[in-house]
Amino acid sequence: MSEPVIQSLSGRRIWDSRGRPTIEAEILLSDGAVGRGVAPAGASRGSREAVDKRDGGARLGGYDVKNALASLRAEIAPALIGLDPFDQAGVDARLIALDGTENKSRLGGNALTAVSLAVLQAAAASRGLPLWRHLSGEGEALVPLPEIQIFGGGAHAGRRVDIQDFMIVAPRAKSFAEALEITAEVYLAAGRIMAERGLLQGVADEGGFWPSFSSNEEALEALIRAIEKAGFTPGEDVAISLDVAASEFGRDGRYKLSLESRELDRDGWADYLTGWLDRYPIVSIEDPFAEDDGEGFKRFTQAVGARAQVIGDDYLVTNAARVDAAAAEKSVNAVLVKVNQAGTVSEARAACEAGRRAGFGTIVSARSGETEDVAIVHLAIGWGAGQLKVGSFARSERMAKWNEALRIEEALGSKGRFAGLDAMPFAAKRA
Ligand code: PGA
Ligand code: ZN
Repeated sequence: MSEPVIQSLSGRRIWDSRGRPTIEAEILLSDGAVGRGVAPAGASRGSREAVDKRDGGARLGGYDVKNALASLRAEIAPALIGLDPFDQAGVDARLIALDGTENKSRLGGNALTAVSLAVLQAAAASRGLPLWRHLSGEGEALVPLPEIQIFGGGAHAGRRVDIQDFMIVAPRAKSFAEALEITAEVYLAAGRIMAERGLLQGVADEGGFWPSFSSNEEALEALIRAIEKAGFTPGEDVAISLDVAASEFGRDGRYKLSLESRELDRDGWADYLTGWLDRYPIVSIEDPFAEDDGEGFKRFTQAVGARAQVIGDDYLVTNAARVDAAAAEKSVNAVLVKVNQAGTVSEARAACEAGRRAGFGTIVSARSGETEDVAIVHLAIGWGAGQLKVGSFARSERMAKWNEALRIEEALGSKGRFAGLDAMPFAAKRA
């Protein structure tokens, strides 16, 4: 039988976890295999990310994707027909060339992401393999350490607090399943604490509790109380991971905390965060400085990088060249990997590999706007990333992903190795 080729590509509008339109692409191969890919959507986006193509205007808040779907059908589909679905790099290079812009704005990062993922899924389907296995090959596979949000904030909670994600990790968990059980206890305890204090006001975009606190530090204090109330020792059984998402409130080396009505310069902000690292069991901190503040990243990582993971998200935008540059100047020690930040699977994989080469922690991450699609769990395991971040422990666009990882861990059995805190090489030294 001859090797399968891409026979057709179609696109449809589906809806994401914020009720906004997004793109689902569907690839049919000549052997009958089908693959689907979905584009997620960020709210706190880096300025160098691949740009989504949205219709603009008043309808659906400007978020509709009819124009992007039209060019998917008219331009992308004809260009992919007949290509080899196993040559992901070749397909992605074709998509990049066809778009022709630096930031993928002509055809849209959303269209390219959905199509690139659909090709990958079709190739796995053609081999009759789950995606993670298609990517990992035979043998052992690494099950990632989950980072799970307890309180949401920043752009995901109307900027109710400045810091975007207050997350936990379970350093002593022996398996993904155990890490989830520990998280479930802490999430439950956090909800009870909020209810007892009259602060329970539902959840933010990624399912973490709405942060009705009067300072950023109060959220950290509440998190410590929740860990204790759940019966765990902070720093031993359960540690803290933050996504500061500082591009949202920092510019030109100045950081404006709206909740606390304070503005700090780069050094003042570094001292503020370092104080937290001294007082709380924080093992990981993402985007502590704004995307335009390479100097801040560099100084901070040199000061605390031996005891905590410092992740670049908006700062590195899943770009291998930026990861290489950050490695050379030691401005972070970990990279967040989001396919739609790069715009294709191959570019995201290259960023992940650049991180690995540099000895960085590598974290595959969801966006705040998600669907029930679980592809990123397969990418995290298939690429051996070691860490996975998909938001909180509520709402099914999040739970679908945690639950998928449980299924894969079970399927792997003795061939699976849970990454645990080893996946955070710098933080592991501390714990
Ligand atoms: P976003 O945020 O998906 O809203 O951009 C996620 C993150 O900053 O990690
Ligand atoms: Zn982030």
